Amino acid sequence: MRISSREAIELLLEGEIVALPTETVYGLAAALKEVKAVEKIFLRKGRPNNNPLIVHIADISQADKLIKSFPPDADKLMEAFWPGPLTLIVEADSEAVPAVVRANLPTVAMRFPSNRLILEILEQVGPIVMPSANLSGKPSATAAEHVEADFGIDFPVVDGGVSACGLESTILSYDVQTKKWQVARLGAITPEEIEKVLGYCLKLSAADKSGNPLCPGQLFRHYSPEAALYLVENVEQLEAGSMVLGFSDRSYPSHVKVVALGTLSQPESVAIRLYDILRQLDAEAVSKAWIDVSFPREGLWLTILERLMKAAQK
Ligand code: TXA
Ligand code: MG
Repeated sequence: MRISSREAIELLLEGEIVALPTETVYGLAAALKEVKAVEKIFLRKGRPNNNPLIVHIADISQADKLIKSFPPDADKLMEAFWPGPLTLIVEADSEAVPAVVRANLPTVAMRFPSNRLILEILEQVGPIVMPSANLSGKPSATAAEHVEADFGIDFPVVDGGVSACGLESTILSYDVQTKKWQVARLGAITPEEIEKVLGYCLKLSAADKSGNPLCPGQLFRHYSPEAALYLVENVEQLEAGSMVLGFSDRSYPSHVKVVALGTLSQPESVAIRLYDILRQLDAEAVSKAWIDVSFPREGLWLTILERLMKAAQK
């Protein structure tokens, strides 16, 4: 059910959950202080309660009230990328951020989004927690229709059109040992862009000392349609009629069926369509598809590859 920003503000203040657009993907929202509503998010998504949520804010002073202190160089990162698709993991003020939001961790993930509608809502409601608005394990939602496909036509969603980035935020965490930020989840901002601001190379997909991923969510199944997905670099040897998710600016043998993810010259075009195309496979009851992963291993392509690898895991 499409609702206005005004209606979303009222529902959030009454302790309800709603879906909201952001520049990355749609989020399933609850007001930070409404603990019952936060619990509803976990239930509605089928999300394990040891997978913490990101807190969204509309200005840096809101962040100051939720954390102990910002790690070194956080100011440089915030200045360069906020508002926008960057999430920082910071030591939480445990009184200000309910334990259920943090999955009992001492830290909180914070993001200042740039989408106009979400900012308008954050200004009225205060900090809002939002995981991506999809059933746990499924591809994220990049349009109001995707939210309705997962949660039902009556679920309240503010329609902000197709998400501008199409991929989730990049998550960074500060390592006190090396005194450097590291990438906890690849996302819409590339490591190269962040390295320019920090002046050093970022460690990717880092894990803690016991080998656990820095984002608990990385442990769970993600972004997966029902269809079996296979990543391939050479489509020549595929059987006739095989469905290939490929690129509109590459030529393919005539015996395969190609669905274009976007163009090789613009990874942003692929990012915007990626989850929609994975969702279409299910809508059309496709049982198998091959994905052409013969693309550069740099920039946004790294995030796209990481999502495809997760989507293909069963
Ligand atoms: O772009 C985005 O980040 C979207 C939009 C809606 O803002 N949100 C999103 O949330 O992708 P979600 O819940 O689908 O993914 C958040 C990830 C999870 O892997 C979770 O484990 C991790 O962030 N996370 C949240 N709080 C954390 C914390 N305190 N420490 C480590 N990881 C955390
Ligand atoms: Mg998610």
